[in-house]
Amino acid sequence: LRVLHVASEVYPFSRTGGLADVLDALPRALSSQGARVTVLSPWYRDIEPAPRLLMTHGEVHIGEIEEDGVRFLFLGLPEFNRAGMYGEDDVWRFVRFCRAALPALDALGASFDVLHAHDWAAALLCLLARERGLPSVFTVHNLQYQGRWNGGAFDWTGLPREYFTPERLEYHGDLNLMKAGLLYSDLVTTVSPTYAREITTPDMGEGLDGVLRERFARGELVGILNGLDEERWDPRTDDQIAKSFKTYKGKGANGKALRKELGFDDRPILAAVTRLVEQKGIDLLLEVMPDVTRDWNVVVLGSGDPRLEAALSEWDGEGVRFVRGMNEPFAHRIYAGSDAFVMPSRFEPCGLSQMIALRYGTPPIVRDTGGLRDSVPKDVGFRFQKASATALLRALRSARKCFDESGEWKSRAEAGMKLDFSWTKAAGLYGRLYERMLANHAR
Ligand code: GLC
Repeated sequence: LRVLHVASEVYPFSRTGGLADVLDALPRALSSQGARVTVLSPWYRDIEPAPRLLMTHGEVHIGEIEEDGVRFLFLGLPEFNRAGMYGEDDVWRFVRFCRAALPALDALGASFDVLHAHDWAAALLCLLARERGLPSVFTVHNLQYQGRWNGGAFDWTGLPREYFTPERLEYHGDLNLMKAGLLYSDLVTTVSPTYAREITTPDMGEGLDGVLRERFARGELVGILNGLDEERWDPRTDDQIAKSFKTYKGKGANGKALRKELGFDDRPILAAVTRLVEQKGIDLLLEVMPDVTRDWNVVVLGSGDPRLEAALSEWDGEGVRFVRGMNEPFAHRIYAGSDAFVMPSRFEPCGLSQMIALRYGTPPIVRDTGGLRDSVPKDVGFRFQKASATALLRALRSARKCFDESGEWKSRAEAGMKLDFSWTKAAGLYGRLYERMLANHAR
């Protein structure tokens, strides 16, 4: 089975969030189960290691890196030839990217049985693939980002005018690229079973719940929980932390080292490693910070919304450390050295940090939503219902109380370390979806 994955970011070449990690781990897992996998993403100027140039075709060029049996292709366009990844002109850039992709792959002589497109940036490809009879899966990693731009942008797609209606790519007068994935793919998936149900409701459907309800009713919207790269995140072999460890007890040395690094006293350490966007609910944590700091030392690593960054910076000092940016070695030290992990997300399609925290013996305190519900068992972590500061504070208090009863905390942490988040299962489920889709196509 020849599968083409397309996404705007792929770890380790380009990353802003969990999407990139999925595009690293899932293709390798599929490939080890026998599929022939190609991953196509933009050739951002500063990708490292630099891809090998395969072909130039007008202003389009394609580069390649082959790894673990997976072929990573990078599509270069003048629009991507600048520093950084995303920008204001992304709708334009990804329309260009999608329109250039299939002809460029043709020119390379590459062909596929299935297209698997991820998130709005690759969504238009589902429509373009359908026109040539190539079946497609569209995966929603986050419904909030839809690739919307004013109606004039429709012309960039080169599609006939009749596609610009509310039943198709128009959304309240705008062009909405995500709709191309939701409407023209053979199957829609999302990254946890709970999120799959949530996005069919007006509350969490981001204005697209109508379409999603229809596809759900037809059995064409499926939730598959992401896995965790268990080699990259393995406390037993991790050489980026003070001391690798097999048991909860072995975590101690890392706690000590982190405490020292951050100048913390001996209260337990509560950690967050996150993009700083509204979704993640860090504002809720900020609201109750005066209470939280009575019970915990707090460390936050991340970047994003300047207002959240500023608010966190104000807290940076004794007992609270805010480190702006994304620094992977430091993230490892945080997962290994902190006692509890907090994720008050308003919504969470899957979420990765809670799985890493579990694996590193750091029980997570999470909102009961999406992938957080599907990956954090109640008797391991702590789940709270309402997206409010009060509900968060209540959960943090009961976590702290439990922490003081050290026997129970230890057994929770140890149970978390034993949970299975390998990609094998998810890859198997995707494999079966591809087969089902191809069987339908053949009929
Ligand atoms: C997005 C979602 C996150 C998910 C990731 C990978 O970043 O916000 O919940 O884990 O995609 O699917």
